Amino acid sequence: MTEKKIIAVVGATGAQGGGLVRAILSDASGGFTARAITRNVNSDKARELAQQGAEVVAADVDSLESLKKAFQGAYGAFCVTFFWEHFSPQKEFAQAKAMARAAKDDGLEHVIWSTFEDTRKWVPLSDNRMPTLMGKYKVPHFDAKGDANQVFTELAVPTTFLLTSFYWENLINFGMGPKKGPDGKLAITYPMGDKKLPGIAAEDIGKCAYGIFKKGREFIGQTVGVAGEHLTGAQMAAALTQALNQEVRYNDVPPEVFRSFGFPGADDIGNMFQFKRDFQEVFCRPRHPSVARALNPSLQTFDGWLAQNKSRIPLE
Ligand SMILES: NC(=O)c1ccc[n+]([C@@H]2O[C@H](COP(=O)([O-])OP(=O)(O)OC[C@H]3O[C@@H](n4cnc5c(N)ncnc54)[C@H](OP(=O)(O)O)[C@@H]3O)[C@@H](O)[C@H]2O)c1
Repeated sequence: MTEKKIIAVVGATGAQGGGLVRAILSDASGGFTARAITRNVNSDKARELAQQGAEVVAADVDSLESLKKAFQGAYGAFCVTFFWEHFSPQKEFAQAKAMARAAKDDGLEHVIWSTFEDTRKWVPLSDNRMPTLMGKYKVPHFDAKGDANQVFTELAVPTTFLLTSFYWENLINFGMGPKKGPDGKLAITYPMGDKKLPGIAAEDIGKCAYGIFKKGREFIGQTVGVAGEHLTGAQMAAALTQALNQEVRYNDVPPEVFRSFGFPGADDIGNMFQFKRDFQEVFCRPRHPSVARALNPSLQTFDGWLAQNKSRIPLE
């Protein structure tokens, strides 16, 4: 019997990593096993992964030594950072650096780094169309991830750079779902104009990552973008109207209005939407759904995702 290749998965109890762990475990003959990394091996989610057949190990992305231990003996690793836990791009960069260093020191053969564009390549800090945030970023939760790509490259870690898309789950648990306006009508509010927003079921990101690992060396050194569909706000509202059986409108607001909404990170997310709106081609081109579907044949469309998840969307 050939030995299975171990994939160490950061964020295994979360959305992206969890999808990857489940994809590995559901393919018993695929040649891979999942090592789920968590800060707390005794949490309910960690125990559930262990019951499903994952090896569960403790590590913290703030600790290089713990990462080195957790990656030891693995063939590959899935690396992701958690911006919304701390809102610090500097911290995110340091965590990416630690994962790259651990992967290098442990001699891993394939790493997937879940990243984004460094938007400052297209919107330099001197470009006043959107405010500079935290002193040196335009979209903090994108820019540090993109900036960290160079660390993987400089250390010669065999890396696939995975560009992810807006989770449709944001409609459920990130306050981006339909809300009732003063007129009592439901609307989704994104500053996207008539431009398309690449979106994806979060679980599909992990499934696509598994598809990348299964391809062996093919995607090492490559950037791979994944999306389930590219939809305008109006198209998303039409799909929601159909699925929920009640009218949902698309409320297009200027990015500066979105940035002023006041929730934590509103300025960052306002800039993110503006980047996606103003650089539609740059953002959509590398995330073609056909690429994601080739890696993950069960890739969901927005309609398919809504059919499964519509009852989970809070209608405030
Ligand atoms: N929301 C979106 O639309 C979207 C789209 C694309 C990309 N993203 C990006 O996705 C990233 C987050 O990934 P996700 O959504 O998969 O995360 P998630 O679902 O929030 O899960 C995070 C998991 O990571 C673990 N974790 C948190 N801090 C850790 C640390 N210091 N060391 C080790 N593990 C830690 C936690 O597990 P334990 O408690 O078990 O340790 C948690 O379950 C963010 O950086 C965000 O920018 C978001």
